[in-house]
Amino acid sequence: MTRFALLTALVNAAASLASPLAALAEPDPSLAFSVNVDGHTFINKGLVAFGLIPSNFTDSTGNTLGGIGSAIALSIGSFVAKSDGTFTGTIIAQPDRGFNVDGTIDYQGRQHEIDFVLNPYYSTAALSFTQAQQTLQLQYKGSLLYTERQGVRTSGLDALGVRAAQSGFPSNPDSDPVMPIPNSTFTHLTLDLEGLVLNADGTFWVSDEYGPYVYRFDSTGALIQTIQPPDAIVPLINGDVDFTSVDDPDTGRAGNKGFECLTVDESTNTLWVMLQSATIQDGGNKKSNSRYTRLLSYDISQPATVRPALTAEYVVPLPQDSNGDTLASSEISFVSENLFLVLSRDTNGHGGDDTKSTYKGIDLVNITSATNIAGSSFDSHKNPVAKKGKLDKSVTPAVYTAFVSLINSTQLARFGLHNGDPSDATLIDAKWESIALAPIGDAQNPHDFFLFTAADNDFITTQGISQGQPYNAGLDNDNQFLVFRVTLPTR
Ligand SMILES: *[C@@H]1O[C@H](CO)[C@@H](O)[C@H](O)[C@H]1NC(C)=O
Ligand SMILES: *[C@@H]1O[C@H](CO)[C@@H](O)[C@H](O)[C@H]1NC(C)=O
Ligand SMILES: *[C@@H]1O[C@H](CO)[C@@H](O)[C@H](O)[C@H]1NC(C)=O
Ligand SMILES: *[C@@H]1O[C@H](CO)[C@@H](O)[C@H](O)[C@H]1NC(C)=O
Repeated sequence: MTRFALLTALVNAAASLASPLAALAEPDPSLAFSVNVDGHTFINKGLVAFGLIPSNFTDSTGNTLGGIGSAIALSIGSFVAKSDGTFTGTIIAQPDRGFNVDGTIDYQGRQHEIDFVLNPYYSTAALSFTQAQQTLQLQYKGSLLYTERQGVRTSGLDALGVRAAQSGFPSNPDSDPVMPIPNSTFTHLTLDLEGLVLNADGTFWVSDEYGPYVYRFDSTGALIQTIQPPDAIVPLINGDVDFTSVDDPDTGRAGNKGFECLTVDESTNTLWVMLQSATIQDGGNKKSNSRYTRLLSYDISQPATVRPALTAEYVVPLPQDSNGDTLASSEISFVSENLFLVLSRDTNGHGGDDTKSTYKGIDLVNITSATNIAGSSFDSHKNPVAKKGKLDKSVTPAVYTAFVSLINSTQLARFGLHNGDPSDATLIDAKWESIALAPIGDAQNPHDFFLFTAADNDFITTQGISQGQPYNAGLDNDNQFLVFRVTLPTR
């Protein structure tokens, strides 16, 4: 050890006595958990930060800020390493469709800008819940509201109606496929938003559950493009398109199980979108049969006047719990060619069905050897790829490998958090639905990333405001955020 290094070590040791948050360069090695796949070692170096926005916080429209973990993305170019070991940046968070525990509401689609200071915590010693919140400090800045053409605001009401398709693309800028609307007299586009991808030109892609569609908005929040998936995924009842999320259709995406997952491979201009679980004809009407979901890719290299073409489609086998029930997927994130992170989970935790979660994983999916079924007969609703949950013999699915557990008690306890009873603010939230990756920029660890995830709290608060009216949902379920440090050797 040089004199300078010794001095630094002594200063660090003194600092760590003074403050439990003092920086170590890397997480304690005992916190690391590795997965080996095909000769690559992926490392979860541990949970390094926790933050929250209180359940009763209101956005700039005066309504409760909630549901924000439905999708998060890092504002392009915002992530900065500071000389003091902290990191700053801006998260863009997109809620789904407002407080809808007592029925869907006329909630305008939106995204929120949230600045953060990340002060990663690398020690094994347990912080208090209050100290833990210093590791990821979040500050709401403002919101962007979504509109359709001519400034008409979008809705969140259940899609009981269908607006006829408008032809004439590309010369007619209003041309669209059939669109989900609340009913025949209230014809605003209705959205249940779940995925978000930001583009360098300021436009952004979102994925939704009603269509299930992918939409592109410009930087002012106005709709500019709509992608309708193959017929196998569009919900049909008695042969007609029916976008309701309340009942399952005869074929197509299951009710309220649409395009939860959206990501981009910028190097090839490819947009990737995945269903939460299997289509109805692929077993999606039963949890025991619904594991074979579909991952699709679109070419987004062309200008907005060209419809993105479907370029690939793969079957992804989701994990199942000990009862054989499918752990549906809530988010996907591109890692490197043919490799993704996928967030699959149960619905237990704070604000969920039960307090004790048995699975919440941000896992690895490799599509290298999977069969590309795009454009095949499986794109028709008449030809299931996994009838009653049995995969067609002609199709090889992707390979799914468990990676980062969000409910590891050792990791949670370091931040004053827990899984299972009691149900209080320190119970981990039920519905984690988002992923954002930020390169750490550490020359010693060039493949290390911060992996951000946030929970959808379903707007559950005792002091809520929805459409300007107060409500009490009987529980305070904060908007929780977790940050892990991971090594992704292929990126
Ligand atoms: C929880 O995390 C610790 C530390 O990383 C690890 O040693 C342990 O195996 C993990 N437990 C489970 C059940 O994954
Ligand atoms: C949220 O609740 C806390 C605790 O009851 C209270 O101190 C705070 O003022 C509330 N904030 C808002 C925006 O209502
Ligand atoms: C259509 O939806 C609007 C908004 O919820 C509602 O006020 C209206 O009564 C509905 N009309 C029909 C015909 O259901
Ligand atoms: C993905 O799978 C292929 C074989 O299908 C393998 O060669 C490759 O190494 C795998 N990639 C990763 C990152 O696991």
